[in-house]
Amino acid sequence: MGVEIRVENLTKRFGRQTIWEDVSLTLPAGEISVLLGPSGTGKSVFLKTLIGLLKPEAGSITIDGRDITKVKEKDLYEIRKLFGVLFQDGALFGSQNLFDNIAFPLREHTKKTEKEIKDIVLDKMEITGLTGSERKLPGEISGGMRKRAGLARALVLDPQILLFDEPDSGLDPVRTAYLNQLIVDLNAQIEATFLIVTHDVNTARTVPDNIGLLYRRHLAMFGPREMLLSSNEPVVRQFLNAQREGPIGMAEEKDAGELESERGIELGALPPIPAQLPTSSGITRASERKPGSWLKANGVVPPPGSFPGLDLTFEDGKGTAAQRPEKQSDATSASRETVGAGVRVVPSGAKKAAAVKAPAQKAPAKRATSRRSTEG
Ligand SMILES: Nc1ncnc2c1ncn2[C@@H]1O[C@H](COP(=O)(O)OP(=O)(O)O)[C@@H](O)[C@H]1O
Ligand SMILES: [Mg+2]
Repeated sequence: MGVEIRVENLTKRFGRQTIWEDVSLTLPAGEISVLLGPSGTGKSVFLKTLIGLLKPEAGSITIDGRDITKVKEKDLYEIRKLFGVLFQDGALFGSQNLFDNIAFPLREHTKKTEKEIKDIVLDKMEITGLTGSERKLPGEISGGMRKRAGLARALVLDPQILLFDEPDSGLDPVRTAYLNQLIVDLNAQIEATFLIVTHDVNTARTVPDNIGLLYRRHLAMFGPREMLLSSNEPVVRQFLNAQREGPIGMAEEKDAGELESERGIELGALPPIPAQLPTSSGITRASERKPGSWLKANGVVPPPGSFPGLDLTFEDGKGTAAQRPEKQSDATSASRETVGAGVRVVPSGAKKAAAVKAPAQKAPAKRATSRRSTEG
């Protein structure tokens, strides 16, 4: 069920330009992680480095026990088969219909018969709500459908790791909501490791199990969703709450004068932490943590109004046990530790990543993806 990706002290430069340095984080197997960051901070470069399309200047990326920055080209080719990637624009061939676009990796990388290919393609098109659009050309469909076609293509080789580069860019809020639901349902179904690059704050707040933030050439923080949504670290707080006050300015980082002029301005209270987006069928994802579990384990009381509708209580941060209303029996649940979420605070570049432990719930997840036919 998905593979872990362990990134240690990774540094990427182009010539003398450092894109980011000393990035350490672990994407836990089967979990959904989001990587946030202002435009131009190197999020796409990070994804390309993970799949070995770009070589880092320092550090390691361990997948399935192998450091992909050190392996031979032949082995890298094999490791890449673990990945499915949804590129920012869908990266479809304009002259080929959706069926042929989605079938492309199968025809290129496998010896499957056309009959087998057809079964797989139609299945992935159903999962992504594209049934009936096999003969359409990319130019004839909406941006949302193009993204879903790119997603269907990313799924045909049954990836263990799915990377999404700004899946929500260019989509209206309704289409974004559909796509986010599809991502959560898909994770419940295929249990692969997901990494979503976005700068949509709402997506980051509600979809993932973990959030990371790239800022000023460093990974400002990476850890469980509840950790970042309750963090008072200025950059994290400003970005995740879309506030003007804070160290991030219009261009990038604010100068001393701007920061000085903000001194004394009361930062608004942290907004309530929303419930995590559930699967559309109500099934618990295998990697899903109980709401409030990180907060409780770490003695953090969330802002008032957090987890609306879930009736959680936090007493001095050690609240009573919380249950999602439709959650399955705990008898089948086994407690699991998620380790390796690195935390680092900008700009102390030299500080080593600290491990954060977050308790997690494990429950069986069955085929849960909703069958959508909604256009979008
Ligand atoms: N192949 C490349 N050669 C040189 N510079 C690059 C290359 N790819 C990206 N960059 C630079 O890396 C920086 C980060 O780019 P990118 O990863 O696309 O940012 P983001 O996805 O966060 O918006 C940009 O300054 C960009 O110009
Ligand atoms: Mg990008």
